[in-house]
Amino acid sequence: MSKNSDIKIYEYDAVVVGSGLAGLAAAKELTEAGKKTAVITKLHPLRSHSGAAQGGINAALSNNDSTELHEFDTVKGSDYLADQDCVELMCSKAPETIRWAERMGAVFSRDVEGDIAVRPFGGQSQPRACYAKDRTGLTLLQTIYEQADRAGIEVFDEWYAGDLLYEDGKVSGVVAYNIKNSEVAIFNAKVTMFATGGNGRLFRFNSNAHANTGDSLSIVARHGLPLEDMEFVQFHPSGLGGSGVLISEAARGEGGRLFNSEGERFMTKYAPNAMELASRDVVSRAIMEEVRQGKGVGKDGQSVNIDLTHLDPEIILTRLPELRELAIAFQGQDMLKEPIHISATAHYSMGGIPTNINCQVRKSPTELVEGFYAAGECACVSVHGANRLGANSVLEAMLFGRHAGENMIKALDEGATLRKASVSDADTFINEMNKIKTSGGNETVPRIRTELQNGMTADAGVFRSKETLERQLKLIDELLERFNHIRIDDKSNIFNTDLQEAIELGHMLESAKFVVVGALMREESRGGHFREDFPTRDDGKFLKHTYAYMDKEFNIRTEWGEVVLGKFEPKERTY
Ligand code: FUM
Repeated sequence: MSKNSDIKIYEYDAVVVGSGLAGLAAAKELTEAGKKTAVITKLHPLRSHSGAAQGGINAALSNNDSTELHEFDTVKGSDYLADQDCVELMCSKAPETIRWAERMGAVFSRDVEGDIAVRPFGGQSQPRACYAKDRTGLTLLQTIYEQADRAGIEVFDEWYAGDLLYEDGKVSGVVAYNIKNSEVAIFNAKVTMFATGGNGRLFRFNSNAHANTGDSLSIVARHGLPLEDMEFVQFHPSGLGGSGVLISEAARGEGGRLFNSEGERFMTKYAPNAMELASRDVVSRAIMEEVRQGKGVGKDGQSVNIDLTHLDPEIILTRLPELRELAIAFQGQDMLKEPIHISATAHYSMGGIPTNINCQVRKSPTELVEGFYAAGECACVSVHGANRLGANSVLEAMLFGRHAGENMIKALDEGATLRKASVSDADTFINEMNKIKTSGGNETVPRIRTELQNGMTADAGVFRSKETLERQLKLIDELLERFNHIRIDDKSNIFNTDLQEAIELGHMLESAKFVVVGALMREESRGGHFREDFPTRDDGKFLKHTYAYMDKEFNIRTEWGEVVLGKFEPKERTY
């Protein structure tokens, strides 16, 4: 680990933390515009979780579709909590975003006419998920990485950003360390962007990569900056029964049907029109309700069946080949021959670092931070509100990542300045690393993490109540205390994954607390947030964004922010 005197200070126009679709889109734009840009990522860019997105990217391309219908579906899907100005921007620019991806070389699946193929996804009035078989995210990630690389982006891969340089309302870069040798450095920049993805690993049963520990959320929160709408967690209806590994909504889009242990196609009860293609919150609750009623399948009765055996095998083999392989590998079930077991899995955070429509981070509902941008899952520009529609996240990441890049270029061109960092700016993070390495307690990272994840799935999951949330809050506070007494065995500086996992666990505990406090405050049910003790939506009190702020003792206070309404009046949702 570095001594203070060894700390390098790198100077850049722009620093982008995270190298999934959003981060790479921004970095590519910045680099092509001649801005000196560093991308810092704890993975290699091609291992970013964007590559796990399977089913599609939404754009109104078909003749019967329109960007206005896309907007309507998105706002309805959000349970009316999305900011409609941002939704309009996203949906109106979606077709151009697809063309941008194509021009970069993305190979989309085609229909018989040779046009980009679209498939139906949940909550859509018209099929609009453009796709590349069931590897859409991977195709786009490889394409954009190739082009960003060609543009000359400078990547610090396997570097972990652990703190933000924030003072007097302005951000001027990050502190990071090189995972390979624990060298600490400061990346001093005129503009900084976070695009670090989500925090799905808070839950035991999830579809997320191991890296999705929500680091940037608590890094921001530790500086007293707010997080928005953190209570809204998306549970995807189809995670493989035992593991939570994603079985894309494309399986239902292509015609997959859900059955309980009694052979009943139960969606007839919950969404008689849209059936399996209702929005994700509706389908996930339906699945878990069937399980609660004892109509689950599988060894533990915690799953339901998705059946694709009635489909032409060619559809599975040509459009869903990866899903088939995953189900065989993880469960020994071949969807060509038999139904497979699935269950609702933690998938996506609708909330995150609040931004305005130009991806500038907010300091409060009405004030902005200077020089700081965010996009993708870690951000909350609020196009998803209380529930995201499938295939809108890949779109959001590409589109708002690029938009953030363009806005950062504008800020630089308008004269954004560098506030010079000093080596002491790294002190807080170095102290955090030292404390973890030298702590001689008897708690372990895996034990605390497992307790956190089990509790989140059981008590802050698809169904929540005051009782379960208060239990989970108490547990998190205990775990935060116990975290002070962790011991890691690896004291070395070389690829010290014990150290990294301990830092990540600190972030997980804090962002979990935001989820639970927000869920307790919101005494209603909306989108992915379902309170058994307040089972209906309450627009009178809660058609509002939650802004939550953490102090040094991990106390969280909340306030409400206005939702940007527009042409779509809040209505009761039916599917
Ligand atoms: O089901 C899926 O393919 C996931 C897509 C998404 O989360 O947007």
